[in-house]
Amino acid sequence: MKSVYLKHIGEHVGEEVEIRGWLYNKRSSGKIQFLIIRDGTDLIQGVVVKAEVSEEVFAAAKSLTQESSLIVRGIVRAEPRSVSGYELTVTDIEVLQIAEEYPITPKEHGIEYLMDRRHLWLRSQKQHAIMLIRNEIIKASRQFFDDRDFVLVDAPILTPASVEGTSTLFETDYFDDKAYLSQSGQLYMEAAAMAFGKVYCFGPTFRAEKSKTRRHLMEFWMIEPEVAFLDVDGNMDLQEEYVCYLIQQVLKNRRKELETIGRDISKLEAIKAPFPRISYDEAVQILHDNGVDFTWGDDFGAPDETLIASKFDQPVFVHRYPTDIKAFYFQPDPNRPEVVLGSDLLAPEGYGEIIGGGERIHDLDLIEQRLQEHNLPAEQYAWYVDLRRYGTVPHSGFGLGLERTVSWICGLPHLREAVPFARMLNRIYP
Ligand code: 4AD
Ligand code: MG
Repeated sequence: MKSVYLKHIGEHVGEEVEIRGWLYNKRSSGKIQFLIIRDGTDLIQGVVVKAEVSEEVFAAAKSLTQESSLIVRGIVRAEPRSVSGYELTVTDIEVLQIAEEYPITPKEHGIEYLMDRRHLWLRSQKQHAIMLIRNEIIKASRQFFDDRDFVLVDAPILTPASVEGTSTLFETDYFDDKAYLSQSGQLYMEAAAMAFGKVYCFGPTFRAEKSKTRRHLMEFWMIEPEVAFLDVDGNMDLQEEYVCYLIQQVLKNRRKELETIGRDISKLEAIKAPFPRISYDEAVQILHDNGVDFTWGDDFGAPDETLIASKFDQPVFVHRYPTDIKAFYFQPDPNRPEVVLGSDLLAPEGYGEIIGGGERIHDLDLIEQRLQEHNLPAEQYAWYVDLRRYGTVPHSGFGLGLERTVSWICGLPHLREAVPFARMLNRIYP
């Protein structure tokens, strides 16, 4: 008999098929048992009628506990009122294992309880839907950059130096030397952009952030494009097009999952280019107009970002931040060197910064000067400085935080549900 995935069950109406999976839930009314079965791709209700199956099969159905593994055979029927739109009239059940008492039941559990059991929690419908949306965003990202002739270049994870400041580095031994887990692939993408023109990397990045917020993970994934001959405005154009594409693909291919998690889909449907672009100065003005005591030159905190973004119904770019609060590599504005040609993209609904990026310094003397000002060891950055020695050109790029984007698109309260196994200040298990 044909073994099928529930995702494709609609192609088998009227046929007898075999499904391999787990018992998600069960209801019984004496002579009929309703088994909700999941196989990783979807759910289906299996109906076991006492009068129509052998005694053994009915007993097997009865013995099934939540998450027991099984092979079930039956005839597929269209049933619009059922979970998946189909039902299975069960003819046979093969029990693989009767699961021990399952710790996650349909009742409410505390978040720490669930995070301790993340390896099991992933099987729950809502978590399952979030991971499929994450997968869609990754797929769409690759498609977007592939379609535009970007070359995927993998950045190393063990690195000799910092990108985003030395205070958040994870240090590890590297034989007789030291190495750090990558905070960003950017510097390597700058080298790659000079070799290929348009590149991107997609990989895990690490920040030893001693902050316990709903927006920070110690390990997160970033998509980092880098383009030769691109300026700060073109960089924002690219981000806008990319973010709109991500939203469109999720709306097109993962609408059911958005519904499963209860996302207000109209909020996503409303996202359309162009996104407003305001300067840091204008953003500070918004804070002042709303009674926030904020000093020009400081960095925005999460509540500031939320307030600024709340004034717009689209994601908003904030550009030209003060040079002093940004990383060493940002190109200063030629008309106003106290600010840089960089931008952050702030998502609506209080999700804050999802992208950071900008124009990089391409001048040899200036990059050397900045490394000194930031007390960064020249020998570790010699190769990076070389890029300004051999055919330097203006270039820009950005990094989109995958988990921040997943959180926003899914409407999640915390980043921990946007990644399969979250690494947080107080958590490295499971
Ligand atoms: O703004 P960041 O630090 O920029 C960079 O790392 C650049 N080198 C990227 C580039 O230009 N190639 O980080 C970029 C994005 C942020 O906007 C945010 O979405 C995410 O990465 N991010 C984090 N996500 C989860 N947890 C953290 N601790 C994060 N730190 C940054
Ligand atoms: Mg940033």
